[in-house]
Amino acid sequence: MDKPKVVLGVSGGIAAYKACELLRRLTESGHDVRVVPTESSLHFVGAATWSALSGHPVSTEVWKDVHEVPHVRIGQGADLVVVAPATADMLAKAAHGLADDLLTNTLLTARCPVVLAPAMHTEMWEHPATQENVATLRRRGTVVIEPAVGRLTGVDTGKGRLPDPGEIFEVCRRVLARGPVEPDLAGRHVVISAGGTREPLDPVRYLGNRSSGKQGYALARTAVARGARVTLVEANTGLPDPAGADVLHAGTAVQLREAVLKAAADADVVVMAAAVADFRPAEYATGKIKKKDGQEPAPITLVRNPDILAEVAGERARPEQIVVGFAAETDNVLANGREKLRRKGCDLLVVNEVGERRTFGSEENEAVVLAADGGETQVPYGPKEALADTVWDLVSSRLG
Ligand SMILES: Cc1cc2nc3c(=O)[nH]c(=O)nc-3n(C[C@H](O)[C@H](O)[C@H](O)COP(=O)(O)O)c2cc1C
Repeated sequence: MDKPKVVLGVSGGIAAYKACELLRRLTESGHDVRVVPTESSLHFVGAATWSALSGHPVSTEVWKDVHEVPHVRIGQGADLVVVAPATADMLAKAAHGLADDLLTNTLLTARCPVVLAPAMHTEMWEHPATQENVATLRRRGTVVIEPAVGRLTGVDTGKGRLPDPGEIFEVCRRVLARGPVEPDLAGRHVVISAGGTREPLDPVRYLGNRSSGKQGYALARTAVARGARVTLVEANTGLPDPAGADVLHAGTAVQLREAVLKAAADADVVVMAAAVADFRPAEYATGKIKKKDGQEPAPITLVRNPDILAEVAGERARPEQIVVGFAAETDNVLANGREKLRRKGCDLLVVNEVGERRTFGSEENEAVVLAADGGETQVPYGPKEALADTVWDLVSSRLG
């Protein structure tokens, strides 16, 4: 079989050197990669590097090898175009259809999926011009992955950093695996909660649960590959941020509620995959609770936490918003699931059986997705990303 053909566009950002690692990952995993740098990017990484690492000639302009019409052929023949880093300038050109060099011509002729990984200073990223260009590109079906937060050029830090090349590679792998289809969540904002809340008793102790957050992260990664703008609200997972998602951190149920409701205000889809504690200690001891000789421990009084899923589903920020819940059950799994779906008022409920060695922390999952319209989809035991993709298939068919 022919190797999948990938065009790696590199534009003139300080992070261009990271594209060498992305190129390596792509070639070593069996892709035929053609690098198309911009003229500016050659200030950062030279053409010789791209040519030697890719095994292909490298050009920035349309006037070389004209008999082969490279300005058309390279894009037409690609299975995937990924631009990393994508400068503010490149986003503007792509959004407006400019074609003044080989890479911008390639973006116009490609009919395959396109992934752009922007990287720039926070001010450039947040500028309304850039944000509008990104929104335009997403609406048209381009997968634009959110930049990471961290150290930028020089001493400053903020949002605008190119995600880790390994993470960009994973996005490319998932997009390629989906084949030449339109990203069905393009232009959609999805909010996903993941992990487990911790309800503090004193400065060193908490009531928590066994949720690892892996299912929520799988949902976030697959949603990015399907073109969504993703806000991931995580609680106590300790997992590395998935490339392309905006990650917010919460500790307790009350904090998670606040973050989810805020993010949900303009969301098309809210998926509550986090395990939110139903109760929290009524009292928080500001000093560590000590054991006292000859005394029984004081009982812990609990109070109810807010029911975030019921609140999001009951008071939808937008009438057409789709709300997905998760139910972890240890017994009477389906009957409890159906009851919970009705009680919470969500559109879909992913029901899985949990136990000490099942689901929590594992890489695999098995579930039934119940729908408010009566549908029932069995998802066999397999990777959490496969379950995530089934959830997105069901969501996508319900989005207007
Ligand atoms: C040292 C240096 C670092 C730069 N880093 C970035 C960057 O990370 N992101 C960005 O959008 N522009 C960056 N620029 C500005 C771009 O290089 C400039 O907008 C250029 O016109 C982009 O051209 P291109 O999009 O054709 O590659 C940088 C410029 C310099 C001199």
